[in-house]
Amino acid sequence: MRKPIIAGNWKMNGSRSSIKELLHGLKAGIGEVKSAEVAVCAPSIYLADVSEQLTGTAIGFGGQNLSTAAKGAFTGEISADMLLDFKCEYVIVGHSERRSLYGETDQLVAEKFEVARKAGLKPILCIGETLEERESGITNDVCSRQLNAVIEHSGIAALADGVIAYEPVWAIGTGKTATPEQAQETHAAIRKLLSDKDASVAEKVRIQYGGSMNAANAAELLAMADIDGGLIGGASLVAKDFLTICKAAG
Ligand code: PGA
Repeated sequence: MRKPIIAGNWKMNGSRSSIKELLHGLKAGIGEVKSAEVAVCAPSIYLADVSEQLTGTAIGFGGQNLSTAAKGAFTGEISADMLLDFKCEYVIVGHSERRSLYGETDQLVAEKFEVARKAGLKPILCIGETLEERESGITNDVCSRQLNAVIEHSGIAALADGVIAYEPVWAIGTGKTATPEQAQETHAAIRKLLSDKDASVAEKVRIQYGGSMNAANAAELLAMADIDGGLIGGASLVAKDFLTICKAAG
């Protein structure tokens, strides 16, 4: 049985005081979450606050991006060791916003995945198709291409302990969720692609759904056989909604 994992992706939202309040709410309610693993991915400038408030609790945390470089003249970047210095467990890599707004290629994402994993962070690898790609019927090709870049770089075994987040780009922040059947179909295709290479990795790896998952639709998405959790943007900024999603995961 794969343990479900719900992760909040706060993106570039919040302030020291709103985050304090959000974490206060999450800590108060986390005891009601029975079995799901729960984490939040914060803007890096707030990781010190988050680390201070969450270390020793049942809520994990991580960053939203990292550099491939270990240190040096890379203005504005954050290294894996810096994330680890604040006790981060996770880091999101290859979010569609990084890919589309900051030009991150499959190759760069694969390098980030490897740097994170090697350092001991758990990468949450985001993949997913745009609306145009879905309408052209190439959803599975896009997901395969994005995944294969990582597999070629790190080997299939490297995925076993990571997390894949399938996020159809057209569903992110749009309020337009994939139907449970649509999501399940792609999750199953992703798992099949992996199982053709290594059945035990395919069985083990957790595949989150992301894209307008919220308190109202989480249960039906999470009930699908190959959906092992969620990567939550907007709804992770409201403690009550995020906790409802976490509880729906188990
Ligand atoms: P959303 O974002 O839940 O606001 O759609 C999800 C994500 O981008 O990870």
